[in-house]
Amino acid sequence: MPDRYAVIGNPIAHSKSPAIHARFAQQTVQDMTYVALAADEDGFEGTVERFRSEGGRGMNVTLPFKHRAFALANRRSARAEQALAANTLDFRDGVISADNTDGCGLVRDLVANHACELHGRRILLMGAGGAAYGVCGPLLDEGPAELMIANRTPEKAVAMCRHFAKLHRYGSRLSAVSFDDLRDRAFGIVVNATSAGLSGEMPSLPPELFAPDALAYEMVYGRSTPFLGFARARGARTADGLGMLVEQAAESFFIWRGVRPETAPVIAELRAVARV
Ligand code: ATR
Repeated sequence: MPDRYAVIGNPIAHSKSPAIHARFAQQTVQDMTYVALAADEDGFEGTVERFRSEGGRGMNVTLPFKHRAFALANRRSARAEQALAANTLDFRDGVISADNTDGCGLVRDLVANHACELHGRRILLMGAGGAAYGVCGPLLDEGPAELMIANRTPEKAVAMCRHFAKLHRYGSRLSAVSFDDLRDRAFGIVVNATSAGLSGEMPSLPPELFAPDALAYEMVYGRSTPFLGFARARGARTADGLGMLVEQAAESFFIWRGVRPETAPVIAELRAVARV
């Protein structure tokens, strides 16, 4: 019997995770299956428990259940503790272990796929919701000169800043601002972790935001967002979140199977299909 894995979320029908893990399994010759499971608002914990009791080995968790996956676990990695959310559950040894591979996925996409070093750089992280919490710790781990969090609701950026400053050894390099405070500042890396792009919007940003050779990273993928257009028009390099999606999946795969799949061909294949 192949080992069984799944991704759970709502909505889940258009998830690319089953296709990504199928490629990884084929590439690394792993005997496993990976399916998408939908759960309604009340059904998350029950669906996880059923999958586990029927022999499931592990799960990925996506919106809107990442916080509940974190709460459900008996064991949590430092990455999950920092993010206060989990996207990966492992069911070995009779316990539910939670991890969060989102931030590691972003960092690997930036460093390995976009040749963008983070050490000593000035980073702007936009957003103070779940997506931003997921990536803040691993970005700090890289030792940037500065990491500034900007959010439409400034109090949320301040609360997020306090949370990471308390937990992280590079927390002193963190600060929180509102978008209005960004005038006359320039960053080498600007990560958009807001959900504004999903509704065709973007935070209001000053034109001089990008340092020479800056990279503008949009965590939303598969569409051209106003932020990407804004960045391109100001001469910044741009990247969307497709690489992060594949890299976070590869890290989950490594947690479960102990082997690291090659991500570049999978990213290229998905990009060819999506034509983005
Ligand atoms: P996610 O899990 O995708 O991060 P979330 O927790 O609801 O979702 O957070 C959404 C983030 O996008 C928040 O930082 C939100 O800003 P507020 O905290 O002020 O709500 C941000 N956001 C959403 N739409 C936005 C917009 N049009 N302009 C600027 N920020 C926006």
